[in-house]
Amino acid sequence: MPSEMPARLDVPQDGHTHLILAGISGEKFSPSAPSNASVRAREFCEQLERGNILFFAPTPFAFSREKREFLLSQKQTSAAYHKNVAYRPAEDRLTGLAKSDAAEEGRLRAILREYSQEAAQFVGELLSPYKNAVRRDFASYRSVEERERPARLRARNDLPHVDAFPTRPTNGDRILRVFTNLNPNQNRVWLTSETFDVLARRIAGQIGLPARRGNGFAAKSLAAMARALHLPGANRSPYDDFMHRCHNFMKEDETFRESCPKQRWEFPPDSTWMVYTDMVSHAVLEGQFAMEQTFIVSRQAMVLPEKSPIAILEKIAGFPLTNPA
Ligand SMILES: [Fe+2]
Repeated sequence: MPSEMPARLDVPQDGHTHLILAGISGEKFSPSAPSNASVRAREFCEQLERGNILFFAPTPFAFSREKREFLLSQKQTSAAYHKNVAYRPAEDRLTGLAKSDAAEEGRLRAILREYSQEAAQFVGELLSPYKNAVRRDFASYRSVEERERPARLRARNDLPHVDAFPTRPTNGDRILRVFTNLNPNQNRVWLTSETFDVLARRIAGQIGLPARRGNGFAAKSLAAMARALHLPGANRSPYDDFMHRCHNFMKEDETFRESCPKQRWEFPPDSTWMVYTDMVSHAVLEGQFAMEQTFIVSRQAMVLPEKSPIAILEKIAGFPLTNPA
């Protein structure tokens, strides 16, 4: 179990991540059970936006033993299998699947589809202040043992980083992720370091602030043309550029890697946790067999808008960093 487990929601604001025991009991957690559900929902949003982790054990939505056993029985031999399998809800499609597993694709897709729907329903009920502001992004099945998993430096999961999607820019919207440890025997082990509100100024001093986008007619026309032609990076705002460089710096800079403060967390079998991974610097050290669902939450829906990475960076820069709608 995690080494630090505050039971109350009023945890200190110290630039570190805390674990919020949002649903711990012998029974399934129901987000709508308490009579003060709306107050509780706002508190959960606040804790997430401050850079804390909401933790649930057991997993608060249906995931049958039969589905879990099917996933754990998948073979691990193909080199291509050493990838995460991703599920794209909008297209009801899997990517990253080895050819040899094509026969099992239908079953795997159905399991990921159901997980994705269950996670979306749970988030919708739990975080009601975000109503109509949450977009379901990709889900993934992470079947590979993370300990000593080979990867190029920027793709390594075991080095603390904040998330940024180079091919799916958010333009200041937030990356909220739900994780479930399916492994019946093994904890999933994470590290967290300082939260983005503490890191931003220091890292900006190292890698430079985003450049101000040209505001003249020519600059706007060029940007519009690039978007119309779907040129790579055309939709990336100065915010997205900075977050991507920040992600790379945190993994590549040896001094940062070694000197950043680190907290270790152990998420036990049959637990689920959710976190803003653009705010919480995180790494996964150990664990095999996890599910994950990503949500993009509108920055306009934040209950603590000043805590958003976009607001923190714009305050430092002194000018807007998003693209016009
Ligand atoms: Fe990450």
